[in-house]
Amino acid sequence: MTNLLASVFILTVLFCNVLDAKKLKLKQVLIFSRHNVRYPVAENLDRYTQKPWPELPGEKGALTPKGARLEGYMGEYFSEWFDKNEFLNVGCPSDEEVYVFTNSVSRTKATARAFLDSAFKDCSVPVHHKDIEGPDPLFAPAIRNTTQAYKEMVIEEINRKMSNNQKLKEMYLELNKILDVKESAVCKEDDICDLTESKHTILYDVGKEMWVQGPLMIANSVMDFFVMTYYDGFPIKDIAWGYIRSKEKWRILTEIGRQDHNIRYTTVAEDIGEQLMNYLRETFQNYDNMPKLILLVGHDYNLNAITTIMGFERTDLPKQFEKYPIGGKLVFQRWTDGENDFLKVEYVYPSWSQLRHGKKYSSNNRPQRVVMKLSWCSDKCGFCPWTEFVNKV
Ligand SMILES: *[C@@H]1O[C@H](CO)[C@@H](O)[C@H](O)[C@H]1NC(C)=O
Repeated sequence: MTNLLASVFILTVLFCNVLDAKKLKLKQVLIFSRHNVRYPVAENLDRYTQKPWPELPGEKGALTPKGARLEGYMGEYFSEWFDKNEFLNVGCPSDEEVYVFTNSVSRTKATARAFLDSAFKDCSVPVHHKDIEGPDPLFAPAIRNTTQAYKEMVIEEINRKMSNNQKLKEMYLELNKILDVKESAVCKEDDICDLTESKHTILYDVGKEMWVQGPLMIANSVMDFFVMTYYDGFPIKDIAWGYIRSKEKWRILTEIGRQDHNIRYTTVAEDIGEQLMNYLRETFQNYDNMPKLILLVGHDYNLNAITTIMGFERTDLPKQFEKYPIGGKLVFQRWTDGENDFLKVEYVYPSWSQLRHGKKYSSNNRPQRVVMKLSWCSDKCGFCPWTEFVNKV
């Protein structure tokens, strides 16, 4: 056994030596980022419990001041990484060098602003976005396929993912207690008195985001409130009325986020992510004429669609309960050895406790970095031949 492991190790080392990562030079970077810590977005929270909810000091869905600060730390971290790799010219970047495009809602714009103001101090790099009220359709998770066949397939798949789902059940049992659902308005008015009873309604409309009303939406709404206020630094006694005091409880409860992603977004990823994928495809097809650094800022469901459609191997992100962590970034890196180019993709994200503690990143407090592999690309130690990537993507 030890021999086998040793030879696997030696083979890997030999193979990786063919491509000497130290000799590669960073040529281009495209970052797809999720916005940083925001205020909770949920509606109707008062219907789900009789207990009083804490006041929010800011507007629903907006980036919080702490979120802006944390994103600034990310900007600084990336700027140091760029410098270390002699990636950009010294001084303020030109429009040809750096291009930034975000969804047109306030938290994505503010996230890009915070990142840039720290990454490029005193430079005022512009943040581009469509000049419209509300979300940009490019980033919206709206159903596009108009056929009945697709609708039926999706609903069947969702029902399959929700039935007998032990992880959801375990989470619902905790929430029953935390919220005391039996005493809530949603029990008295809608007869949802136990979240484990599967009383759900799938709201499926072409052109709109898909929702699953009932326990899934209730759990999602309240957990969004708990998680965001945890990140933002509320005292533990004010989060879920002091009920969540261990990592194990957080693990059980945050399962809702991972399940909800799998149910509402992964099921329809190809459909809802098509426009954004085409945008990325076009960008990579014409990449030689593109700026060195492109920063795009959107949402967790965009990252779900991109990773699902592109066919990344499933990777668990260590030290995080969220599947697509807040402030997390999928970083597409084009490296060159002078002759051939290679793609490396990393997920760079703040850990669960880095978000809570909110300290500046440093050499002993780095953001998490996980190499993401495309299942279909002939991988060389985390690098995929660029031509292969561009031909297949
Ligand atoms: C819509 O869904 C159906 C059924 O899965 C599929 O055959 C069709 O190609 C889809 N249409 C589009 C435009 O994606």
